[in-house]
Amino acid sequence: MKVSVVGTGYVGLVTGACLAEMGNDVLCLDVDPNKIRILEEGGIPIHEPGLDLVVARNVKAGRLSFTTDVAKAVAHGTIQFIAVGTPPDEDGSADLQYVLAAARNIGRLMTDYKVVVDKSTVPVGTADKVREAVADELAKRGSDAKFAVVSNPEFLKEGAAVDDFMRPDRIVVGADDEQAILLMRALYAPFQRNHERLVVMDVRSAELTKYAANAMLATRISFMNELALLAEKMGADIEQVRVGIGSDPRIGTHFLYAGCGYGGSCFPKDVKALIKTASDEGQELKVLKAVEAANDRQKLVLVDKIVKRFGEDLQGKHFALWGLAFKPNTDDMREATSRVVLAELFKRGATVTAYDPVAMTETQRIFGDEPRLKYADSPNAALEGADALVIVTEWKEFRSPDFDRIKATLKTPTIIDGRNLYDPRLVAAAGLDYDAIGRGLNVAK
Ligand SMILES: NC(=O)c1ccc[n+]([C@@H]2O[C@H](COP(=O)([O-])OP(=O)(O)OC[C@H]3O[C@@H](n4cnc5c(N)ncnc54)[C@H](O)[C@@H]3O)[C@@H](O)[C@H]2O)c1
Repeated sequence: MKVSVVGTGYVGLVTGACLAEMGNDVLCLDVDPNKIRILEEGGIPIHEPGLDLVVARNVKAGRLSFTTDVAKAVAHGTIQFIAVGTPPDEDGSADLQYVLAAARNIGRLMTDYKVVVDKSTVPVGTADKVREAVADELAKRGSDAKFAVVSNPEFLKEGAAVDDFMRPDRIVVGADDEQAILLMRALYAPFQRNHERLVVMDVRSAELTKYAANAMLATRISFMNELALLAEKMGADIEQVRVGIGSDPRIGTHFLYAGCGYGGSCFPKDVKALIKTASDEGQELKVLKAVEAANDRQKLVLVDKIVKRFGEDLQGKHFALWGLAFKPNTDDMREATSRVVLAELFKRGATVTAYDPVAMTETQRIFGDEPRLKYADSPNAALEGADALVIVTEWKEFRSPDFDRIKATLKTPTIIDGRNLYDPRLVAAAGLDYDAIGRGLNVAK
């Protein structure tokens, strides 16, 4: 099948590469010439495990190519995926300018039947706006070319995006056009050979499904984070509580980890957008408002712990920071907790040496020449001269450190762990102070 993907970011590039892997002829479009240049030169503009191999294989086979030429992209695919960003607008709603610009381009240039697929996360009612934008452009030039609009939200996780796309839990298709549904079924058939995973529903339900999924996941995190704060006060251990409740199949073990707040390009903006959608309809989403407020507070929890130990004035204090990305296996820094932690530490006069396996370049782009921030080329190198170690992202390489070395290197042998990576007994046995999230039994009083 001939497929065009508009927007070659985390979602668009993975979608394009994985569809090419199944034998489709895919052209990925982006307005960012730099991104397209990197891809054309054989590079990958983002860090996503396994993506480089899939891209290289399919480029070589002639099934995957890249362009900045809008007309070429519109002419190419019968199926036109829109996978551009939908960042939060000032009022919290999803900014649809990129989605609608992509839709207008399709309407302006198409000459034959197109299935326009909204893969970006978009509020309920966006498919209608996309339909209007395409129809408006067709009407302007008196074209009667036919098209359908489909909602096909994406559920992949950054850091495991290729695996998630190749082996999806479900593929949601919101559509009312029979021909479009048939095409979508054919396109996704290779991804669900052992059992049917395609769920066809009406367009609005599909649009809401994506927000409902992210809102539920964010709720689980904020719920556990609030309980963790309580556990600390009560002398209980949230990790034991997690195991205790997760074994109930109605609750389940996944996504129940307390930590230092959720970030990334999806949960924060999608929670905000759903709250705004509801308020536009005159409904207050009380639970989600609390989820958001709890997360804002949780992003400060590491700073609170640092201040408790070292005081409000951190002039002359130096911290080692392990992990910058909003989660492991990605270089994505959007809404990352590390950004809040760094800003708060700098505000109080502290300096930091950070280490992250892949997100240091992106951090440098964000923080520029910030003199209070240095980078190390290994976790141990980051410890040199530091008063304490602060852990923000749960990268695998942080999971079994040499505690003796950490104790010998830090000025105050303290680990402040935002991801509950260690057994507090082991850390204590090594002679280190350990302050993690919700581990009340082990917090140094
Ligand atoms: N990142 C994720 O994990 C994830 C998961 C599921 C859904 N989503 C949703 O998918 C959408 C895309 O997210 P992302 O993380 O891939 O964003 P991204 O910022 O990585 O990529 C978006 C790309 O679109 C390009 N673009 C913007 N306007 C364009 C236009 N008119 N024509 C062509 N290209 C254009 C940008 O240059 C950028 O490269 C968002 O709605 C997001 O909420 C993201």
